[in-house]
Amino acid sequence: MTFAAITGVGAYVPERVVTNDDMATMVETSDEWIRSRTGIRERRIASADEASSDLGARAAQAALEDAGLAPNDIDLLVVGTSSPDMVMPSTACLLQTKVGLTCPAFDVMAACTSFVYALQAAASAIEAGRARRVLVVGADALTRLVDFTDRRTCVLFGDGAGAFVLEASEEAGVLGIDLGADGSRPEVLRIPAGGSAMPASHETVDAGLHFVQMNGQEVFKFAVRAIPATTKRALAASNMTIDDLTWLVPHQANQRILDTVADRLHLAHDRVFSNIESLGNTSAASIPLAVSDLYTSGSLHRGDVLGLVGFGAGLTWGAAIVRWTKEDD
Ligand code: COA
Repeated sequence: MTFAAITGVGAYVPERVVTNDDMATMVETSDEWIRSRTGIRERRIASADEASSDLGARAAQAALEDAGLAPNDIDLLVVGTSSPDMVMPSTACLLQTKVGLTCPAFDVMAACTSFVYALQAAASAIEAGRARRVLVVGADALTRLVDFTDRRTCVLFGDGAGAFVLEASEEAGVLGIDLGADGSRPEVLRIPAGGSAMPASHETVDAGLHFVQMNGQEVFKFAVRAIPATTKRALAASNMTIDDLTWLVPHQANQRILDTVADRLHLAHDRVFSNIESLGNTSAASIPLAVSDLYTSGSLHRGDVLGLVGFGAGLTWGAAIVRWTKEDD
C-alpha cells in the first residue's frame, strides 16, 4: 500500500506584532482580560500588501525547501483558507503562480478545520495513486474579516500560514483521519454578507455584516466536546490510544479550551502543544504553524505520533493522527 508522509514543513507569519496593550488602544479591553480569558498576549497582522495567498506562498516555499523539492516536483496543491484573497479565482490558483507551481490547485473551505480537511484530500490523492507529491497549505488573514470595533472578536485572531509537503511513501505517515460537520447551526460562527445569500451592498457594509459574528460561549462548549471526541475516533481508526500520542496539536483558539481538552482526555498539559500566546487564532494556519514550531525547536523525533485536531465554523471538526517519519538532524 502507498501511504502519505510529511517530508517538508514551512511557516510564515507577518512581521507586525500587535500586543494586547495595542488592542486596548482600539477597543475597551485590557491585557489582563485577554490573557486570562484566552491565553493570548500578542498576534501578527498582515501588512496592507499581504493577502492570504502571499502568506501561504511564503510558507509553501519554506516547506518545499525543507523537503528539498522544486516547484515542478509538486503535482497537486490544496489550500485551506476561510479568508480567500477574493471570491474567485481560488486562493490556491493565486498562490500557485506566486510559488511557480504548474500543478492543479484548489481551495478547501472548512473554517478553522480547513487544514485537517485539506490534509485528508491530499493524503487520499496520494493513497489512491493520483498524486505523488502534494503541497498542503493553511493560510488565513482573518484580521481582514474582523471588526476592529468589536472587542468580542477582534482580540482573538491573528494572521499567518503553514504548509506541509506530503509524499508517497512505503512508511505510514498520515494514519487515521476523522472528519465531521454539522451545518444546522451556522449562526454560531459566520460572516453573513458578501456571498450569494447576501451580496455585498451599502446596507450590508453599513451594518457590518461582512465581519465575523460569533457566539463565543457556544463555540467554547462545542470545541471542548468536539476535540476529545474526534481525537478518540481518529486514534481508534489508527489502532491507537491516547497513550500513543507524543503531542496533541489542537487548533489554537483559546488556552482555556486547550486546558479543558487536556483534562477531558487525561493528557498532561505539557503534551498539548500551545503557541497561542504569541500568535492568537490563525484559523487554518494554526495547526501547521504549531507543527512548524515543534519541528524547528527540535521537539519532534522520528517515530513521534501527533494528533492534529481542528474545529471551527460550519460547524466542522476533524483530527488526523500522523507519525513523524522525517529523520532527526
Ligand atoms: N475585553 C473586555 N471585555 C470583554 C471582551 C474583551 N475583549 N470581550 C468580551 N468582553 C466582555 C463581554 O462584553 C461581557 O461583558 P458583560 O458581562 O458586561 O456583558 C464579558 O466580557 C463576558 O463575556 P463572555 O462572552 O461571557 O466571555 P467569555 O468568558 O465567554 O469569553 C471568549 C469570551 C470569546 C474569549 C470565549 O467565549 C471563547 O474563547 N470562546 C471560543 C471562541 C473561539 O474559539 N472562536 C474561534 C473558533 S475557531
